[in-house]
Amino acid sequence: MKSASELSIEDPGLDSIEAQQRKQYMVDLFVTQAKNYDLHDDIYGLYAHRLWVLSLLRVVKSFMQGRSSARMLDLACGTGFVTFNVARKHSNIDIDGFDISPDMIAVARERYEKGFKERDFNFWVGDSEIAYAENKYDIVTTSFAFRNFANKNLATENVFKALKPGGVFIIQDLTKPERQPLKGLYLFYMKRILPVITRMLGTEKTAAAWLYKSIQMMPRNAELKALLESKGFGGVYYKSMTMGIACLVVGYKPQEQAAR
Ligand SMILES: C[S@@+](CC[C@H](N)C(=O)[O-])C[C@H]1O[C@@H](n2cnc3c(N)ncnc32)[C@H](O)[C@@H]1O
Repeated sequence: MKSASELSIEDPGLDSIEAQQRKQYMVDLFVTQAKNYDLHDDIYGLYAHRLWVLSLLRVVKSFMQGRSSARMLDLACGTGFVTFNVARKHSNIDIDGFDISPDMIAVARERYEKGFKERDFNFWVGDSEIAYAENKYDIVTTSFAFRNFANKNLATENVFKALKPGGVFIIQDLTKPERQPLKGLYLFYMKRILPVITRMLGTEKTAAAWLYKSIQMMPRNAELKALLESKGFGGVYYKSMTMGIACLVVGYKPQEQAAR
C-alpha cells in the first residue's frame, strides 16, 4: 500500500473536457436549485452540516485569538452558508466570497443585503481553479465544494497564493465512510433514498447521482493532507466527522515560504 506522501491527485487540466463539463454542470445545476438550496440542504443532510460547521468555526475562533481583525475568503461560497456563520460569530472578520454559479451568488448577495449590509463583504462569480489573489487573505474556507473541483492541484495552489503568510486554509467536505455497517447504510441512503427525496422536492434529476459520484471522487483525508503539503502548507491535520461521512482538513501557509 502506498504511503500518504506517494499518493497523487491528478488534474485533468483547465482546458480539459472533464473540467469544462464539470464547471458547466455546476452552473446549470444551481440555476433551478439556488433559491431552495439552503432548505434542501437541511433536508438531504438531516441538518448534519449545521453540526459539522461548528468544527470549522472552532478553527476560525482559535485562529482569531490575539488578532484584532482578519480578511477571509469563502471559496465556492454558494449561498453563503459558511460566510454568514462566520459573520455572525466574528464582527471583526471581513469576508469575500465567490462561486462559479451566478445563481448561488445572487442568493448570497440577497442574504447579505438583508442581514449584513453594514459589513465589508464582497461577492462575485469566479472559478476556484483560476488564480484570483495574492497574499490577501488571513483565512480561506471551502465547504462542501472541494470535491467538485476538477483541478484540485490548481485550486490548492491558488489558495496558497491567495493566503498571507501565516494564513489558514480550512476544507470541509463530504467523504465516503470506509467501515461497515455505516458504509452499507450510507450507500443505501445515497443510491436508494436520496434519489426519491430529490424527486419529491423537484430537485434537478441528476443531482443525487452527481452527489454520489463527487463523493466517490473526493480524495481520502491522508491524500488531501499530502496534497496540501505538496503545495507548501504546513501544520496540516485532518479530522474525520460522523464516522467518515465528512472531513475537516486544515493547513497553514508558513510565515516564510514561497509557493512550490
Ligand atoms: C454543495 S455547494 C456548497 C456551497 C457552500 N460552500 C456551502 O457550504 O453551502 C458547492 C458549490 O461549489 C461551487 N463550485 C463548484 N465548482 C466550482 C469552481 N470551480 N469554482 C468556484 N465554485 C465552484 C458550486 O457552484 C456550488 O455553489
